[in-house]
Amino acid sequence: MTESQNSRASGESADVIVLGAGPAGLVLANLLHAAGIDCVLLERASRTHVQTRPRAGFLAPNTGRILDRHGLAGGLHRHGSRHGTCEFRTRDGRFRLDYGALGQGGQGGQSGQSGQGGQHHVYPQQNLVTDLLTHYLDHGGRVRFDTEALAVGDADGAAPYVTTREPDGRPTRWTGRYVAGCDGRHGAARRSLPPDAVRHHHDHGVTWLGLLAQAPPSLDAVGYAVHDRGFAGHMARTPEVTRYYLQWQRGVPAEAWSEQRIWDELDLRMRAAEHGPLHRGPLLERGIFDLTCDVVEPLRHGSLFLAGDAASLLAPAAAKGANLAVLEAEILAGALTDALTRGDTAGLDGYSDQCLAHIWRAQEFTGWMTRLLHVAPDGEQGTEPSFHAALRRSRLASLR
Ligand code: APR
Repeated sequence: MTESQNSRASGESADVIVLGAGPAGLVLANLLHAAGIDCVLLERASRTHVQTRPRAGFLAPNTGRILDRHGLAGGLHRHGSRHGTCEFRTRDGRFRLDYGALGQGGQGGQSGQSGQGGQHHVYPQQNLVTDLLTHYLDHGGRVRFDTEALAVGDADGAAPYVTTREPDGRPTRWTGRYVAGCDGRHGAARRSLPPDAVRHHHDHGVTWLGLLAQAPPSLDAVGYAVHDRGFAGHMARTPEVTRYYLQWQRGVPAEAWSEQRIWDELDLRMRAAEHGPLHRGPLLERGIFDLTCDVVEPLRHGSLFLAGDAASLLAPAAAKGANLAVLEAEILAGALTDALTRGDTAGLDGYSDQCLAHIWRAQEFTGWMTRLLHVAPDGEQGTEPSFHAALRRSRLASLR
């Protein structure tokens, strides 16, 4: 079924209105639709845009298990590559951590606890989004692209609704019983929270220059270089494309350095002279990322529930964001299905606390990784540089 057929078939109400077609919204919509729940997915961007926007690329073992459980992991198994190793490069040499075997990769889950371990998949997020969307549409799911949610209203009352701007610019009101805010950190769900909702915000005090290089990966592991000049990271995406990161001075524009200077700096921090050269290639994309994070508390406001980036934003250092989004979507789908099919609202009542426990664990791990990898992250500034360099060295030695 095509998306326009879906659009024509839809009315302007649904039991569950899902905002945002990222990993959170798409997993949720697939699971609800499979359970026979009347739902609609409203997405601000075009279908082409959501399917081509490059984002994260690491899926933790528990994410694979969740997708498997619901028959959504076909593309991941066919085209994703498996791995579970990272390599730290430091002044004391390099060492590898087989985190797949250690079982650190999972977020845990309703049944899957993080201790189960397993391998990560490298699978570009736009491919996962494409798989999830195709599966949803092929099974008759309703979606509206180019439809921006403006606000969620009456979430506390008997008739919750979402106001939208339709593709032709017309304002519309969607009515529903529940609204799932999966529309990211700048979406309508967050904007519609009451003034007393808490948003914990933290700036790790670190900035990254993120690079996408048209070049094959240079090592068969995630590479983390801890260097006095700052962190450098290497992450495989596909056999032809590799992501690199450089810790970057905040405020300096992404275009400030030539490609040559960037590659020379990557060589230096990744210690290419000692461990072998990096495969160079044209830089397809540059972006600046301030490593900040936040958590909204609680994740429920009446009949509005937040999931994914709308619920919590994680700094990218530990690649947890998409994995949390999928986990929360599975929990929310189960809770909404129980409420709508059996009148059992226990899952909805416990949703916020259950997800916040996972979110804070992921935030804690991400903060620990951030302090391990970077020169002078927030909280260390003002301390004698040799002191925190020695702490970092000691942390790496314990890890080793
Ligand atoms: N109305 C409708 N859709 C919206 C609106 C809006 N007002 N605002 C944003 N959206 C859409 C975006 O266009 C996007 O497609 O919501 C979707 C949100 O998707 P993601 O940003 O991918 O967020 P999420 O599904 O929570 O996935 C979280 O994936 O790449 C990682 O780092 C990322 O941690 C994040 C994770």
